Order: sequence, then structure tokens, then C-alpha cells
Amino acid sequence: MDKYLKKNKKHWDEVTPVHEKSGYDVKGFKAGGCTLKPIEVEEMGNVKGKSLLHLQCHFGLDTLSWARRGAKATGVDFSDKAIELAQKLSQETGVKANFICSDIYELPKILNKKFDIVFTSYGVLCWLKDLNKWAEIINRFLKPGGYFYIAEQHPFANIFNNEPGAKKLEVTVPYFHNPEPLEWAPGNDYADPTFASTCGTYEWMHPIGEIVDALIGAGLKIEFLHEFPFVCYKAMPFMIQDKDGNWRLKGDPLPLTFSIKATK
Ligand SMILES: C[S@@+](CC[C@H](N)C(=O)[O-])C[C@H]1O[C@@H](n2cnc3c(N)ncnc32)[C@H](O)[C@@H]1O
Repeated sequence: MDKYLKKNKKHWDEVTPVHEKSGYDVKGFKAGGCTLKPIEVEEMGNVKGKSLLHLQCHFGLDTLSWARRGAKATGVDFSDKAIELAQKLSQETGVKANFICSDIYELPKILNKKFDIVFTSYGVLCWLKDLNKWAEIINRFLKPGGYFYIAEQHPFANIFNNEPGAKKLEVTVPYFHNPEPLEWAPGNDYADPTFASTCGTYEWMHPIGEIVDALIGAGLKIEFLHEFPFVCYKAMPFMIQDKDGNWRLKGDPLPLTFSIKATK
């Protein structure tokens, strides 16, 4: 495991028990709820009876929510703590899904199966250093006629100053990809701002063109690329929450979330 992966895994192992208690609707899920957001539910439609591979599933709430909607779901994440918790939630609720602990780049070595759908969402791409390899892995796990779907923070949501004192849009992170990752010091957690992690992270920026090109390069056909002027968390301190709980900039000037569907 390289030093970037090692540090990022330590971070995710550390924050998983925090997320179990705060910021994620574990209680609502246990009561029969769905943690998926309207964008992916509407755009993906009926998943009943479909085999679905969820990449970077964290502790499995969305994987299990797809299973509740009738998918035969498999979730993958490199955090042992996250996968242990996902398996515990599956047992406690009786919602069946398969969970695999693996770096997604290593997955082809341990999983030899093809799926109708490969899914991934919100907060996933910044942990990946090589999107061409990522897209090849997606293609490798899709059946012919199957599709890949992603709903994710738009790269524009990640380039501005998000320090607590920030009052306006001010670019502090380059939009374009750099093979050298950004090194972030330990900081307060997005799901529970009262929790300060002890471990920093390494992250990469991926512009929208690079994401689309990687999927096309792997042989997939882009069905759509949609952009939305809101994001599901308070990405900058001066954002305004709308009636649906999403966060917006005044006047909706920029795309802050995107979704892509691509078929094999
Ligand atoms: C922000 S979370 C995704 C949250 C997810 N959308 C959800 O709602 O539960 C990012 C996840 O990516 C995982 N991750 C990061 N790098 C990974 C890698 N190389 N392979 C597998 N999982 C990885 C982390 O462990 C973490 O669970």
C-alpha cells in the first residue's frame, strides 16, 4: 500500500465510527428509510432484480438502500472499519448485500463477476489518483448493455476557500489535475464538525473533462452529463440551505453537483 493510500485509509477507519453516530441517518435507515438522494433515485429508476456494484460504499447505507429497492447489491470499500459496520447493519436490519474490503484498484484481483450496474456517489473521486485506471475497472465489471452511474460533487464545489471565515467565492485550489496530491492537515470532519481527526489526507482534483474522457477512453458510451446548482453538504460557509436540505450559492451561478450515466 503506498503512503497516500495508507494515510487515507487511516483517516477513513478513524471517521467511520464518528459517522455511525453523526451526520449519516443510521436511525432512519434502521427504521426502514432510504439514504439515497432524489437525483440518483430518479435518474437510475428501477433497479429491481439488477446486480449492482457500489464502489467506495463507505459503511454501506446507500448499498443497503439499493438492496431495499430490490437490487442484488455488492459494496466495496478499502476501510475495514466501514465494511465491518456495513456487515453489522446488514445483519441487524436483515437487508441482504455483499460487502468486500478492498482498494478499488485491487478489486479485479479478488472479484471475478460482472454486474448490470456499477454505481458510485458523493465524495469519491478526490481519493483516486488515476481516473483512466478507475474507468477501466468500471468497464471490467460491467456486463455488455449494463451501465455506470455517478452522482458527485462538481469539481467547482472543491476549488473555493471553505475556511470558516470565508465570505465570498475565492479560488484557493486549482481546478486542474495534478499527479501530485494535495496534502490536507488533520481537520474537523464534514459529518461531525465537533470531531477533529488526528490524521490528514491526500486528495486529487479531477476536472469534468477528465472524468468524461476517462469513461469514453475505457469504451463506455456517455448517455448524459447533468449539472445541478446545489450540493448536499455545506461546501462553503456562506451557502444557503434550500427547502430540500441542499446547499446553494446566492443566484445559483455555478454547477456544484453532476451526474453521468454511461453504458457498455
Ligand atoms: C465520502 S465517502 C463516500 C460516501 C458514500 N457516498 C456514502 O454515502 O456512504 C468516500 C469513501 O471512499 C473510500 N475510499 C477512498 N479511497 C478508496 C480506495 N482507493 N478504494 C476503496 N475505497 C476507497 C473511503 O473509505 C470512504 O468510505
